[in-house]
Amino acid sequence: MQPPRQLSERPAYQSGFGNQFSSEALPGALPVGQNSPQRVPYGLYTELLSGTAFTVARSEARRTWLYRIRPSANHGPFQRMDRQLDSDLGPVTPNRLRWNPEPFPEAATDFLDGLRCVAANAEPGHPAGASIYRYAANASMERVFFDADGELLLVPQQGGLRLVTELGVLEVGPLEIAVIPRGMRFRVELRDATARGYVCENHGCALRLPELGPIGSNGLANPRDFLAPVAQFEERDEPVRLVQKFLGELWSTELDHSPLDVVAWHGNNVPYKYDLRRFNTIGTVSFDHPDPSIFTMLTSPSAIDGVANIDFVIFPPRWMVAESTFRPPWFHRNLMNEFMGLIDGAYDAKADGFSPGGASLHNCMSAHGPDHVSTEQAIRAELRPHKIENTMAFMFETGQVLRPTRQALQSPQLQSDYDRCWTGLDKTFDKNEK
Ligand SMILES: [Fe+2]
Repeated sequence: MQPPRQLSERPAYQSGFGNQFSSEALPGALPVGQNSPQRVPYGLYTELLSGTAFTVARSEARRTWLYRIRPSANHGPFQRMDRQLDSDLGPVTPNRLRWNPEPFPEAATDFLDGLRCVAANAEPGHPAGASIYRYAANASMERVFFDADGELLLVPQQGGLRLVTELGVLEVGPLEIAVIPRGMRFRVELRDATARGYVCENHGCALRLPELGPIGSNGLANPRDFLAPVAQFEERDEPVRLVQKFLGELWSTELDHSPLDVVAWHGNNVPYKYDLRRFNTIGTVSFDHPDPSIFTMLTSPSAIDGVANIDFVIFPPRWMVAESTFRPPWFHRNLMNEFMGLIDGAYDAKADGFSPGGASLHNCMSAHGPDHVSTEQAIRAELRPHKIENTMAFMFETGQVLRPTRQALQSPQLQSDYDRCWTGLDKTFDKNEK
């Protein structure tokens, strides 16, 4: 008999997106031919984790069967915690906003204590929408967390994370992302002294790959590059603090065992990771730009066809070859609402002020685009093919206005002079010169 895999080992993965995965950490632990046998191998308990209503279309359905040492129901009452996420939404402002990176904490701060809500477009009880956070941490979590309000898209900007989940371990670092399903228990351990990044909490339909339309059957994020964990479990009979987020508030209880005790599982409601460097970036080979939707990596649809509840869009290194074209993103005013972050390097539409770890918010119909330095350089540039290197920006784009939190509006990281990056765009119009 093979020894059981332990959670301290380096993680192994299985590849694919939306697959019916299966995994067992002990040989023969996974029941064969039925989901809920009277007696489960090794004396395990059966539990179902549903990510969708039972009766949605097969293509939407997400669920995983868990075979675990103790059922999740084995806990006492949760108590509302003193420390909350400060996600009160501030006064609605149409202004363009930009924040400097979050400083690292000095006191010991784990991922959960280091979460700061920046903006949200729905009240916590609403069945759609998204909330956006930044995190800065310097300590591993001892406790275990789950989010009843949505799935979590983690975008590390600095420092590696080890995500110890019920289904196994994912290790991610900058230029990778991870998604944790709604309700899945997990612990965030730091692989480096500090960690910083972004989180999108998706309250709507689960993220999935965008349709490819005329692009065809390949391109953008390819399914085989997504990695799900394999089963690993903790058999720890000692006190463990379990925290949940429920309708925007944090509640906790103490267990007498680790809840990360799933020995075998099968299903498609799984955590997964993806390396952004594997994104097959597509752009023009003639002139002008495709719309930035060409950079969509994951999408959560809304009830309106084509209007995303949340899109995760990335701007990777890429060749710029468009002829006779203003090559930075054009000036625009959009229906959609855009929260941007920068993981690495520089963003081609901003000469300065947008640093790795920083963030910007451009809501519905707010006018924005390249700053005046980038604009002047782009108009004068000699249009040889060139590669934008050393960059990875991203956008959480949503159909509903993102309201910044009171905390984000009062943050010392909020830039008071963001508008000035466009003020140098002087009149160059001359009716006598075509
Ligand atoms: Fe934009």
